[in-house]
Amino acid sequence: MRKSFSFAVTTFCFLITPFLLAQESKTEDPGKKGFLDNKCNMCHSVSAEGIEKKTAASKAPDLSGIGAKQNAEFFVKFLKKEADMNGKKHSKSWTGKDTDLQAIAKWLESLKKPAAATK
Ligand code: HEC
Repeated sequence: MRKSFSFAVTTFCFLITPFLLAQESKTEDPGKKGFLDNKCNMCHSVSAEGIEKKTAASKAPDLSGIGAKQNAEFFVKFLKKEADMNGKKHSKSWTGKDTDLQAIAKWLESLKKPAAATK
């Protein structure tokens, strides 16, 4: 009786583990997901977050540590071309969903780590 009980407990633990792990991966920041889904990484690296730009020739800056310069509210305006940064407007106008833009802007604001050292 006792033996079958501990067997049941062990089995339960094995069964539940994948669900707990799945839960964990869902906690990935929606802003980071939005950044990738909206192909910001076509032009931008975020080396501190392990994101590599897809277009090697792109002149767009690495966005690591960008959160130390501006806040989320500014990023929303900047990405809608309503504000400029370093005297320039963004080269690309936002065409996606507002909620995604909010999430991305929040995520950008959270980026305080400087760029990973290059080689
Ligand atoms: C077609 C290439 C391209 C894409 C796609 C792109 N960007 Fe940019 N981005 C640039 C370039 C180039 C700059 C430098 C300023 C300029 O000329 O617009 C820049 C500048 C920025 C800056 C300011 C960086 C600084 O330090 O001045 C932020 C923030 C930014 N982009 C965020 C984004 C986000 C978020 C997305 C996705 C929604 C995105 N970018 C998509 C090319 C791109």
